[in-house]
Amino acid sequence: MAQTPQDSSVTADGMTAAQAVDRIEAAAHPRPHDRRLHARGAVYDARFVPSGQITKWTTAACLTAESEAVIRFSNGSGRFDADDRARGVRGMAVKFLDADKSVMDLVAANFRVFPSHNPEGFIDLVEALGKAGAEGGFADRAKGKLAAAGKFATVLAQHPESRGALKSFAGQQAPASFATTRYDGLHAFVLVDESGERRPFRYRLVPQLGEVEIDPAYAETLAPNFLIGDLDSRLETGPVTFTLVYQFAEPGDPTHDPSQAWPEHRPLIPAGHLHVTARSPREDHWQRQVFDPTRLAPGVEPSDDAMLAFRRHAYSVSAERRLAP
Ligand code: HEM
Repeated sequence: MAQTPQDSSVTADGMTAAQAVDRIEAAAHPRPHDRRLHARGAVYDARFVPSGQITKWTTAACLTAESEAVIRFSNGSGRFDADDRARGVRGMAVKFLDADKSVMDLVAANFRVFPSHNPEGFIDLVEALGKAGAEGGFADRAKGKLAAAGKFATVLAQHPESRGALKSFAGQQAPASFATTRYDGLHAFVLVDESGERRPFRYRLVPQLGEVEIDPAYAETLAPNFLIGDLDSRLETGPVTFTLVYQFAEPGDPTHDPSQAWPEHRPLIPAGHLHVTARSPREDHWQRQVFDPTRLAPGVEPSDDAMLAFRRHAYSVSAERRLAP
């Protein structure tokens, strides 16, 4: 069937979601039944307690009344044996539940802005990281640097918008804990109130414990998969809490491009707290589900960001493949 550029499963340059996932697989070598990215993760039970501060701007019940949630924390690599001691992407994916039914998902990562303004740029970066050995172990990183240099140079020439994000990312150490990492949703969304008035926003999940990076010398003493065990042991002494913070746009702020930050002085409103309580007893069930950033409750809508719409298709291709017998 002929596909048009308006079809959100195909990018403006003609890459389909299936082709994007093919390229991720070739670069990241996921195991057949794992997510094509964010392969290793663990699922936790949580409770959302709203602040009441956004109630007048949205009809979304899950944001305005207390609700149950599950949260999957992950290492962003496509490799199940990825090294938590190395710098890289960490994810936090939240599912608001109503009697076990998914009503809305938040999917966020430890970037401040996304490193590319279209899916092609992102896939090019995944390929460059694959070459850099970032998809391999701790010891392989230096070895991979040279091999990756040419690929990174090409990506940066084709996607100049990636420079700022990559530079700031390279200046960070790996997070010390899932509990001390800030995760941003990056795309714009829209809150809709009872009268139909629309307010564009972005969300971030801010750790109550503050942001803590790992000391590289201490990192060498940790297991390569230490992050899940770290969170499990923190939860033995009580919940770990994140504040869901909404940043509201002003006219002229770009809503279609997650690679462009909005000024930090835009209003930041706490929508509520997510208290992570314990490992989910139904972990196998939730691991099989998709956390989809476009699954939104009535009262929240997607923005005009084509990358956001494309992600839904890429995630379902990944899920189809990982759930195949
Ligand atoms: C075109 C852009 C993107 C593509 C093609 C892409 C691709 C993927 C794929 C294939 C998966 C595995 C899905 C599954 O099997 O369930 C995934 C998971 C994930 N992605 Fe993306 N991604 C993109 C952008 C982003 C952005 C902008 C963020 C952060 C805001 C992000 C954060 C995550 C997280 C946290 C997960 C793990 C979700 C979970 O735990 O189930 N991704 N991504």
